[in-house]
Amino acid sequence: APRPYHEAYRPQFHFSPKENWMNDPNGLVYENGTYHLFFQQNPTAPVAGNIHWGHATSPDLVHWQQQPTALAPDSLGLIFSGSAVLDAQNTSGLGKPGQPPLVALYTSHSEKREKAGRPDVENQSLAYSLDHGQTWQKYAQNPVVKNQGSRDFRDPKVSWYAPGNKWLMALSAHDHVEFYSSKNLLAWTKESDFGRALGAHGGVWECPDLLQVADEQGQPHYVLIVNMNPGGPNSGSATQYFVGEFDGHAFRPTLPGTHWLDYGPDNYAGVTWVNLPTGSSPTLIGWMSNWNYGQQVPTSPWRSAMTVPRTLHLRSAQGQLLLASQPIAGLSKLTDNPITLNNVAVDGRYDLGKHLTNPTGRFQLKLTVPEAKTWALVLQNKAGDEVTIGYNQERKAYYFDRSKSGNVGFAPAEKGFAQVAYAPRLSTGSTQEVTLLVDAASAELFADGGLTCMTGIFFPSQPLTQLTLQASRLTLPRVELAGVRTIWK
Ligand code: FRU
Repeated sequence: APRPYHEAYRPQFHFSPKENWMNDPNGLVYENGTYHLFFQQNPTAPVAGNIHWGHATSPDLVHWQQQPTALAPDSLGLIFSGSAVLDAQNTSGLGKPGQPPLVALYTSHSEKREKAGRPDVENQSLAYSLDHGQTWQKYAQNPVVKNQGSRDFRDPKVSWYAPGNKWLMALSAHDHVEFYSSKNLLAWTKESDFGRALGAHGGVWECPDLLQVADEQGQPHYVLIVNMNPGGPNSGSATQYFVGEFDGHAFRPTLPGTHWLDYGPDNYAGVTWVNLPTGSSPTLIGWMSNWNYGQQVPTSPWRSAMTVPRTLHLRSAQGQLLLASQPIAGLSKLTDNPITLNNVAVDGRYDLGKHLTNPTGRFQLKLTVPEAKTWALVLQNKAGDEVTIGYNQERKAYYFDRSKSGNVGFAPAEKGFAQVAYAPRLSTGSTQEVTLLVDAASAELFADGGLTCMTGIFFPSQPLTQLTLQASRLTLPRVELAGVRTIWK
């Protein structure tokens, strides 16, 4: 049945909870025709705290249905972030004949121990479901991975490692990732540490994910995603990644330096689905917010949405293999009256919005820019609020400017909400392929086929229904534009 989702800033093609607080995506697993999205949830207030696992399901990663809360705090603590797998071979023995369990591994975060000043606040626990994720039982002998002394010790991401016939767990431990392995999901053995002296360390490492991603030739490589807060490239929370090799025990990077999956301020704690249908590309979803101000954003009665799901690919640029993200193809199912324009000549301001039959402040846009030149997409309303997303050829940088986007004052200025975010252009190709998804209160830029991404949220006093493209003497060979239907009325 349609739900009363009509509030200001309520996104239509992004998952947002009906009410109250949400942060990280958790337990991303596909099983039995259903994509599961569990999430950090406070079911009783629109701020962080009292953390449970909320739950939503989807047949296609586009239409979501919120489900009853899946996991509630217990004597071991709050239910912090983690993952879920289908234990198809019942390695855990927690299943029944013909009923393989879904197994969730999450962090039990003890506020009691924290208050007592103990270091072992965070331990890893297990829960399982025999009814496709509808109801969950906690494992009687929790925790299954005990704290090793680091206060930050959390966010287990589990996946099946076929060459070693074992489960792997990537875990964040303050300033590094720890790998564990197990034959049965219950007893875990430490394998290795990674990253104390590599990558960015401006904040605490959180929510790691080890996965394989194919390059342009279809050759798989290991990618280690490491979320970090604060210390992102445009301040606050952000997601870095490493590309390298994994031998069943340890990860070794082959790509030097620090790399960001998204340079925008609002894509955090992103991790990928496991057990996807054969032939799917790895698919990531992030929390579309930032710990700098996530608890103050002016939405009610809910706080936060997820990013759109994004497929991950490795692309060569600057002689290196870099990670590129693209919105999942299924999102185009929701478009209304899509149009394609050819040879659009822009000199000054070009009104793209006039091509939208029903301007709502939600659209999907694809541009081909023939040579890297300065341009700007300006989203506006009659009240004078605006968001500008563009490319500056002198700086060789994309940017996201929400400094005049409406309500920018809900958090202290030093939290940076009104700052302009910049991102380097990583591609050296002459043509820019640009996709922009706008959904009421967010924009997601995928530039150069997703090599440079920027995600940001904003809160105008009324929807940004006007869209202009600004450039001097630029002819775009192709522009695709479509409004997006309301799916939650
Ligand atoms: C990341 C994070 C995780 C933790 C969860 C708590 O945003 O801090 O490390 O498990 O949020 O809600």
